[in-house]
Amino acid sequence: MIVDKDIAGRIEELKKEKNAVILAHYYQTSDIQDIADFIGDSLALSQKAAETDADMIVFAGVKFMAETAKILSPEKKVIIPDMMAGCSLADSCKREDFEKFIRENPGRTVITYVNTTADIKAVSDIACTSSNARQIIESLPEDEKIIFGPDRNLGNYIKSLTGRDILVWDGACHVHEQFSLEAIVKLKREKGDAKIIAHPECELPVRLVADYIGSTSGLLSFIKKDPGKTFIVATEPGIIYQMRKARPEKNFIPAPPKDSTCGCSECNFMKLITLEKIYKSLKFEEPEIIVDPLIAKQAVVPIKRMLEISAKLGL
Ligand code: 13P
Ligand code: SF4
Repeated sequence: MIVDKDIAGRIEELKKEKNAVILAHYYQTSDIQDIADFIGDSLALSQKAAETDADMIVFAGVKFMAETAKILSPEKKVIIPDMMAGCSLADSCKREDFEKFIRENPGRTVITYVNTTADIKAVSDIACTSSNARQIIESLPEDEKIIFGPDRNLGNYIKSLTGRDILVWDGACHVHEQFSLEAIVKLKREKGDAKIIAHPECELPVRLVADYIGSTSGLLSFIKKDPGKTFIVATEPGIIYQMRKARPEKNFIPAPPKDSTCGCSECNFMKLITLEKIYKSLKFEEPEIIVDPLIAKQAVVPIKRMLEISAKLGL
C-alpha cells in the first residue's frame, strides 16, 4: 500500500514527543503494520504491553486487546484509535449469561480466550489465546474439569486435541465462520499442490481439510518453514501482508467466504482503524481505554496466570 509519507512522519514525531508506542495486530492494514513499533498475535501483543516502558500505548487492534494492555499496565495511557473497534466473539459472551453458565456447572476451572471483555476476564481463572490454549489446558491436572469460552470452534478443537473434560461456551467469530468449505476445496483442486492453513476459530469442516491449524503467529511461522509454494489462508487476510514479506516467492490466496460478494472475510472491526485515526488519537490522546479499577483488579489475575504459564513453557 502507498503510505502517505506525511502522515507517517507526523505519527513518528508525535510518538517521540509523547514517548508512545504503537502496537498492531496482524489483521491491521499494511500501511498500519508498516508504521507500528510491534506487530503480533494476541499473546505477543499482551506480552509487549506488559513489558513496554512507553508512557502511552496506541493500540491498532480491537478493544479487548487494548483493554488487556490497560489491565496489565494501569499506569499507562492506552488509546484505541476507534472505540467502535469491537469483536463479535467477545460480544457473544455477556457477563450475566456467562456467570449463569458457571453457576450451573460448578467445580470447573474457567478458562477464557482473551477475546472477551474485562467483565468476563474478571470471572475467569486463566486467560488464553489461540497460541497457548492447548498448553494452558495441558498444564492443569488431567482430571480437572474445565469451562472454556467464548469460542466454540477453538474450544472444540482444543477439546479434541487434549481429550480433556471441557464444557464449551457457544460463541463464535463472524469472520472465521464465513469461510466456504466447498469453495476452499474447489480452489485446492484447481491449484493442485496448495496447502490449506486455518485459524482454530474456523468451523469444523474447514479445520478438517486444513493441512495446518494455528494462531496468526502459528500460521506465519508455518509458511516460513514449510516447503509448500502455495497456501490457501483461512483467517483474516491482513496476515497475508507479513506472509508475502517473509516469503515473497510463495503464493498466498485468501480462503473464499460463503458469500463471494460480501468481502466478509475481512474483520470489519479491525479495519475501522486507519492511519488518519491513529494520528488523531495520538495527537489528542483519545479515545482512552478506561477499565473500572475493581474489574481490572480481578481481570488481571487470569491474564497474569496466562503470561506466567506461557513464560514457564517458553511460549
Ligand atoms: P490471534 O491470537 O491468533 O492473533 O487471533 C486473534 C483474533 O482476533 C483472531 O480472530
Ligand atoms: Fe473478533 Fe473475529 Fe475480528 Fe478476531 S476476526 S477481532 S475474533 S471479530
